[in-house]
Amino acid sequence: MTATMSADEGQYDPFDEFNRAMGAGGEVSPYPAFVERRRTAPVAPFDIRSEMGVDLSDEDLAAMSEGQPQTFTASTFDTVNTVLRDGATFSSKGYAEVMGQVLGHSILEMDEPEHHRMRALLQQAFTRRAMERWEPEVVRPVVDAMIDGFAGAGAVDLVRAFTFPFPIAVFARMLGIPDEELPTFHRLGVELIGVTVDFDRAVRASAQLAEYFGAILEERRSRPAEDMISVLAQAELDGERLTDDEIFSFLRLLLPAGAETTYRSSSNLLVGLLTHPDQLRAVRDDRALLPQAIEEGIRWEPPLLTIFRTATRDVELAGVPIPEGSTVITNLGSANHDEARWTDPERFDVFREQHPHLAFAAGPHMCLGMHLARMETAVAINALLDRLPNLRVDPAAAAPHITGMVFRAPPRLDVVWDT
Ligand code: HEM
Repeated sequence: MTATMSADEGQYDPFDEFNRAMGAGGEVSPYPAFVERRRTAPVAPFDIRSEMGVDLSDEDLAAMSEGQPQTFTASTFDTVNTVLRDGATFSSKGYAEVMGQVLGHSILEMDEPEHHRMRALLQQAFTRRAMERWEPEVVRPVVDAMIDGFAGAGAVDLVRAFTFPFPIAVFARMLGIPDEELPTFHRLGVELIGVTVDFDRAVRASAQLAEYFGAILEERRSRPAEDMISVLAQAELDGERLTDDEIFSFLRLLLPAGAETTYRSSSNLLVGLLTHPDQLRAVRDDRALLPQAIEEGIRWEPPLLTIFRTATRDVELAGVPIPEGSTVITNLGSANHDEARWTDPERFDVFREQHPHLAFAAGPHMCLGMHLARMETAVAINALLDRLPNLRVDPAAAAPHITGMVFRAPPRLDVVWDT
C-alpha cells in the first residue's frame, strides 16, 4: 500500500463523531406523527419543524424558504412507491448538490440512461457467486473475530462493541485493505459521512480516500485478485470499462450506503428482538425464522427514514400539484407503517404476514446491496445467538431505545449473557 495517511488519528473517537454527525439524540419517536399525516395528507408541503424536529420561528422559516424550490413529503406506501418507480418524472440529480461534492458523480445521483449503464457495470461486483464467497471468506471471519474480543466479558454495549464496527470491517476486508489500516479507513469513512457537520473535513477525507483507493486500484489493475476492487477494475459492458473516478465515487458511496445502513439496521433488529424476549427465543430456537425477522426489523425501523427526488415536470401526486423543480421527500419509514398494508404496523412482529416494504427503496435505484445487507445481518445475529448464551437486555441499564429523525438507531444497547 503506497497511499499516505495524515496522522491526526486518535484525536477523536469516530463513534462519537459519527453519532454527532448523524444527529442522534432525542427520545421522541417520529412514527406517531406519521399516522395522522398518512390519514389526512399523503402528500403535503414539507414542514421542517415537525418533520425534522427543528425549532424555528415563522419569520426564520419564511426567510429560509425564500427563493427555494417547494418541498413536499410523500407519506403513504402508494405515493412513495409511485415516486420511486418513476425515475423520469422524479429525478435523483438533487444528490449532486451536497453528497456529490464529497462522493463525486456516483450512481446515486444518476438518471437514465446513464444510471442504467453504471448499474449494469457495478452489479458485476454483487453477483450471487460473490455473495457465496464473501459469506465464509469475509463476513464470518470478521464477525467471529469481533465477538472473540468480548465473548468472555458477560456484558457489553453491543452497538459500540459490535454493530457499529462490523460492517465497516467487512467492507475493508472486501476491498482487501489490511487490518492494521482499518482505523485510518474507518476514520476517513466517518469524516466523509459527516459532510453536513464539517464540510471541509469531508472534502479532505474524500480526496484522501481517492488517493487511498487509487493505490489499491493501481495494484489490482496490474495483479487482479478476487476482491471487490479487482472485480470493479475488470467489469465491462459493451467493451467499456469503469474509469478510476467512477470506481472511487462508487467506493466512497459504499461507506454511507453500505456500512452505515447495515450498522443501523442490525442494531434496530437487535432492539426489536431483545425487547420482545418471546420472539428472540423463537428465533434462537428456529433459525429458519431469521430471514423474516430481518425483513420485519428493516420494515419496522428502517435505518434511513427519508430519501428525496426532484420533479422534472409539473405533475400531480395524490391530487396535490407538484411544480417542476420541486423536491419530493419520500418517507420510507411512514410508507413501511402504512396501515393499508400492514395490520398494527407499529408492532414489531416477526410472525406477521410479510409484504414487500420500501426500506431498500423501489424502482431503478433500489438498493444494490440489499442481499449483502441481509446476509451480513444473518451472519451477525446467528453468531451472537450461538456464542452469547441467554443473551438479554442488561436489567441494570436504561431500556434500549431507537432515536433519530432521518437516520435511526439505538445510541447504545447494553446486554448481558451467561459466561
Ligand atoms: C439494511 C441496509 C440497507 C438499507 C436499508 C439500504 C437502503 C438503500 C436505499 C433506500 C437506497 C436508495 C437511495 C436513493 O435512491 O435515494 C439504496 C441505494 C443503494 N444502496 Fe443500499 N441499503 C442498505 C445496505 C446496503 C449495502 C450493504 C450496500 C453495499 C455494500 C448498499 C449499496 C447501495 C447502493 C450502491 C445504492 C445506490 C443504487 C442506485 O443508485 O442504483 N446498500 N440503499
